[in-house]
Amino acid sequence: MSISSSSLLCEFPQGSLKKMREIFSIITWAIVIPTLLFIVFARKKNPTRKYKLPPGRRGWPLIGDSFQWYKAVAGSYPPEFVYQQVNKFGKIFSCSLFGKWVVVSADPNFNRFIMQNEGKLFESNYPKSFRDLVGKNGVITLQGDQQRKLHGIASNIMRLDKLKLHFLDDIQLVILQTLNFHDNHVILLQDVCRKATINLMVNQLLGVSTESEINEMAQLFSDFADGCLSIPINLPGCTYYTAMKAREKIVSKIKRTIENQRQSECAGNGVLGRILNEENLADEAVADFIINLLFAGNETTAKTMLFAVYFLTQCPTAMQQLLDEQDKLCKNSVGNELLTWQDYQTMSFTQCVIDETLRIGGIAIWLMRVAKEDVIYQDYMIPKGRAVIPFLSAVHLDENLYKEALKFDPWRWMDPQYQEKRSWRNSPFYSPFGGGGRFCPGAELARLQIALFLHYFLTTYRWTQVKEDRLSFFPSARLVNGFQIRLMRRTNTSKVETSQ
Ligand code: HEM
Repeated sequence: MSISSSSLLCEFPQGSLKKMREIFSIITWAIVIPTLLFIVFARKKNPTRKYKLPPGRRGWPLIGDSFQWYKAVAGSYPPEFVYQQVNKFGKIFSCSLFGKWVVVSADPNFNRFIMQNEGKLFESNYPKSFRDLVGKNGVITLQGDQQRKLHGIASNIMRLDKLKLHFLDDIQLVILQTLNFHDNHVILLQDVCRKATINLMVNQLLGVSTESEINEMAQLFSDFADGCLSIPINLPGCTYYTAMKAREKIVSKIKRTIENQRQSECAGNGVLGRILNEENLADEAVADFIINLLFAGNETTAKTMLFAVYFLTQCPTAMQQLLDEQDKLCKNSVGNELLTWQDYQTMSFTQCVIDETLRIGGIAIWLMRVAKEDVIYQDYMIPKGRAVIPFLSAVHLDENLYKEALKFDPWRWMDPQYQEKRSWRNSPFYSPFGGGGRFCPGAELARLQIALFLHYFLTTYRWTQVKEDRLSFFPSARLVNGFQIRLMRRTNTSKVETSQ
């Protein structure tokens, strides 16, 4: 049975009903009008009133959450601290790190928003000691139009069609020259990968190819790379000081090469020669440009190669499938022929292994930004000058996005439901190469180098792991014991037999 409002009203005499209506309308206006006025004026006075700072805690005075942060990133599971805060405060939260109040994001869409608004609402931010080392005229440290110009040049030099033309053969020759071990040789694969990428950089950036020149430059590059992640004390004996000295020598070597190439009027091989030919940059800017590529491309690529082999060692089924794919390419090659671009394009499982390695062992686990102005995002207001950290690995290891997120499972990338996530140029859920205006211009080059390294390493050697190891992401991504392995040369028919 339903009771209608009209039947209720019928029980009141008409006069009192009118009075009640009047009282009701007075009360309504007495409440509604001031409230509306308050909202209008309050908003005018402070347009950000309804927004709040991302929630969070201050932690210990000065130290804040630095210890917990450090403990997590120095371990094998970097987002541990971030997930603890996400459970308490949500995916965008504030915390205090190394004396600074920062906003951290584990939210894929906000991370993307930050990257897409590079140079507008946010900008990358590095300490002076770092800028002095990598160079203030380089793409990494510059902002605005100058950054965009150099970013365009870098992207253009490392475009897919240029890789095929200028890089494919040289990469293979350098890798073959570096992977040159006899049976029973015990190596630290971490050092070998670093040497391989430094040799690749020297060869591809400077166009240097004689062994003595490569070795000389490789030592300087190695000293320089160490300094990029060291404590910035510019005193003799300190890593940072050695790196600054190495930088000076690299710059003078680059300048000499520029002079020689200008005098001989014949552009050398390598990125340097092509820049001199195609772009109009001052010598100082060219030197910083090259050093920036070296910094950004060296450790990242070396560690991805290393982690791929490490994960494969723990997953023999994936290793076997990768070998099957790569062995077919060996059979196709006649004698000492190098792999072709078509060969590279058939490496579909290898690409899955690279993607899975970058997801779990992504080298750039977070990015560093600062808000250029007060930024409103959803209910939050991030004040101008606030440091903002899009924590990429918290998205890559999110169980709600990736089933069994910590498991090395390259096959997941073959599943149609992962196809959208996999588009690493613009997916909010998978961005190992960043995004927006600072998207990694060397992404395709890195993938090519890693795939070719895996081809030659896996088809040439079998190995046994000599020492236990584990991942750490601080001060940079690495295996704490360098991944010590004993190598045996393999015949084409060898099955996977890696063991610890
Ligand atoms: C697996 C290997 C690599 C990974 C995971 C990687 C990752 C990244 C990421 C995440 C960024 C964005 C940084 C930010 O937004 O602050 C970046 C930028 C950059 N990368 Fe890579 N990178 C790799 C290899 C390379 C290589 C091989 C090169 C070149 C030789 C390179 C050159 C650069 C440069 C120049 C930038 C700065 C772009 C700018 O600030 O405009 N990277 N990289």
